[in-house]
Amino acid sequence: MKTKSASKKSTAEYGIEESKLMKLFEDELKDIYWAEKALTKALPKMVKNATNEDLIAALENHLEETEGQIEKLEQVFESIGKKAQAKKCEAMAGLVKEAEEIMKESEDGAMRDAGIIAAAQKVEHYEIATYGTLRTFAQTLGMEDAAGILEEILDEEKSADEKLTDVAVSTINMQAEMEEAEEEE
Ligand SMILES: [Fe+2]
Ligand SMILES: [Fe+2]
Repeated sequence: MKTKSASKKSTAEYGIEESKLMKLFEDELKDIYWAEKALTKALPKMVKNATNEDLIAALENHLEETEGQIEKLEQVFESIGKKAQAKKCEAMAGLVKEAEEIMKESEDGAMRDAGIIAAAQKVEHYEIATYGTLRTFAQTLGMEDAAGILEEILDEEKSADEKLTDVAVSTINMQAEMEEAEEEE
């Protein structure tokens, strides 16, 4: 009988070759590196199209964070002795394209803001899934420095998502109040 606890199983025990997991980790890293770079171009467009001040502030703040994340990813590449390299992320390209379509097709103001929030939250959720996976891969591979940096980015993505939810909720509340006031007239 094995004495190791389930959580302490090594990659070999799962039948995963460490070199193959390392290759997958690197591929995913290149993918998200491309995605973050794409977002530094997409976020300013969202800012330009947004009306709500809180939404603009949240997007601008996350643009700054995203620029920092690119540097953090470069540190991760460095920590594993690899050159930072970007590989087109089809999923993020699709999400960005969808955001552009929403902005083009929606009416200026509250409706477009709602569309921007929806599109931005899809991006955040994609990033949360990716960084969660990358952090776990790094931990499994025993790369503690990389895991720490990836966890930092993961936390930023989570709080960006929460801020967008806050904006959505407060905007919807305001809208509801306006509608109530109209009914009372
Ligand atoms: Fe990001
Ligand atoms: Fe993000």
